[in-house]
Amino acid sequence: MLKKDANWWRQAAIYQIYPRSFKDSDGDGLGDIKGITQGAKYLKSLSLDAVWLSPFFPSALADGGYDVADYRNVDPRLGTLKDFDAMLKALHAEGIRVFVDIVPNHSSDQHEWFQAALAAKPGSKERNRYIFRDGRGKNGELPPNDFVSHFAPSAWTRSKNPDGSAGQWYFHMFAPEQPDFNWDNREVQLDFLKTLKFWSVRGVDGFRIDVAHALKKDFTRFNKSYTKMDSMKIKADGSDILFDRDEVHKIYREWRKLFNQYNPPRVAVAEAYVPASRRTQYASPDELGQAFNFDLLQTPFSSKEYKRIVTENIELASESGSSSTWVLNNHDVVRTVTKFGLPNGTDLNQWLLSDGKSIKVDLALGEKRARAAAMFIMALPGCSYMYQGEELGLFEVADLRPEDMQDPNWSRNVVLKKERVFFKKQGKMITGLAEIHLEKGRDGCRVPLPWRPSGPSFGFGAGKAHLPQPREYGPLSVQSQSNVKGSTLDIYRTALKLRKKLQTTEEFEWIKTGDPQVLHLSRKNGWHCIMNFDGADFTLPQGEVLHSSSPLKGRKLPKNTTVWLKA
Ligand code: NOJ
Repeated sequence: MLKKDANWWRQAAIYQIYPRSFKDSDGDGLGDIKGITQGAKYLKSLSLDAVWLSPFFPSALADGGYDVADYRNVDPRLGTLKDFDAMLKALHAEGIRVFVDIVPNHSSDQHEWFQAALAAKPGSKERNRYIFRDGRGKNGELPPNDFVSHFAPSAWTRSKNPDGSAGQWYFHMFAPEQPDFNWDNREVQLDFLKTLKFWSVRGVDGFRIDVAHALKKDFTRFNKSYTKMDSMKIKADGSDILFDRDEVHKIYREWRKLFNQYNPPRVAVAEAYVPASRRTQYASPDELGQAFNFDLLQTPFSSKEYKRIVTENIELASESGSSSTWVLNNHDVVRTVTKFGLPNGTDLNQWLLSDGKSIKVDLALGEKRARAAAMFIMALPGCSYMYQGEELGLFEVADLRPEDMQDPNWSRNVVLKKERVFFKKQGKMITGLAEIHLEKGRDGCRVPLPWRPSGPSFGFGAGKAHLPQPREYGPLSVQSQSNVKGSTLDIYRTALKLRKKLQTTEEFEWIKTGDPQVLHLSRKNGWHCIMNFDGADFTLPQGEVLHSSSPLKGRKLPKNTTVWLKA
């Protein structure tokens, strides 16, 4: 049973479930809520403290569910609120807490408020929940300004009036199907408090807050030109028009008051791609309490970088009063097995665009490194996040066919190029327009989990999976790796179980190794973690070997390997 411990999250192991790709209970090709309930025992076998569910709300799936049409319901294709309650009960019974993903920056264009806004007049209360503006030009035919979006060239789309004529423009930081809310509007603020209350009362333990740094915008400067839609490249002083503005923190202080009304208080983690020094405020105890540190996720396999990042983040966490968070994978990035199997510095997007053909990936090396890095972060003080399938050593599926892909990054980042091609039927060269895709997108890390070595969708469901799994996923299935000593699943299970036993205070220190390729950290209770990145075989100090990410050579630690010792 769950303890009423207000600090349970500080050194937790939290597993991200991408519900549509976890387990499909009814054979329609989409993972669902009942599938998660069926997976409760499996999740328990990973000694997790909590799971975080990516959006499962009603959605037209313009952005994998991050376009929410109703924040207080379940997508009927994934189940019902009753199924959700049953899942929550089943996971709680296994001692696993549950986070839901809140997407406050934008809704779906199918949300009843946005539909009402389209039907209403400019200047109306319905339009004021979103960001509508008149266009420039003689007839308003030009967007209000030149802001760019993440998924489309312009961050503005022109709406249609109810009579079909062209109307005002609305702002969307992401796809046109994801209109941004106007967070200056009290009605919007109150509605999100209602949503947070709705899930908290149901028994949800925490929230992951999507694009937490973007809610407040400086509308007085919406006439300015703006080109950087990259929140990591802005000044770290709260002065940006769109990102990380100081006023955003007022929202989270209000949320914290609500979270603290529950026992234990609800936990929240900010997804805020902001410079490290600005992260602390989101993570402070009077706001969300925790913020994702994505530094390792964006870093190659490098001892120097790992050491720098760990040192800096531990300091930052103590400044904010939070604990650190460690993340290597999520539903937005190339899986580590693939990333670490490619030469450091590979442009992953270009590699994906070549369907993984431009450079041969060494998956065996990638798997070894991914395990070593995972065991390294699990030994750090703070919260270890992991993403479904990483415990199976799944690799990125780089060669999905265009007709299978779902990510707006693929379909929207397109330019047209003039091309002359020989048309056999016409017997001549014809000039036409060809589509050039600038991004491959994130579908390759969202391919459904294999549960069994064979059968339709490898036990994910009874039918075809919504994204096709490659043949090589069969031998990586849960069943294939269960009880197989030395499999990635076995390494994770053992590590997570041990970690739970070993975690004590949050202090740690670096121990000198004499080899810059080898990092050694020790926790106060005599738990040591040593990781050899790319050095010569390293002779282990005294101590009992508790676990290693790959076989040792006697008392020597080979490269690409992590070991835990008890001194
Ligand atoms: C961050 C989410 O992780 C990503 O998947 C999504 O596309 C954007 N936010 C927009 O909601």
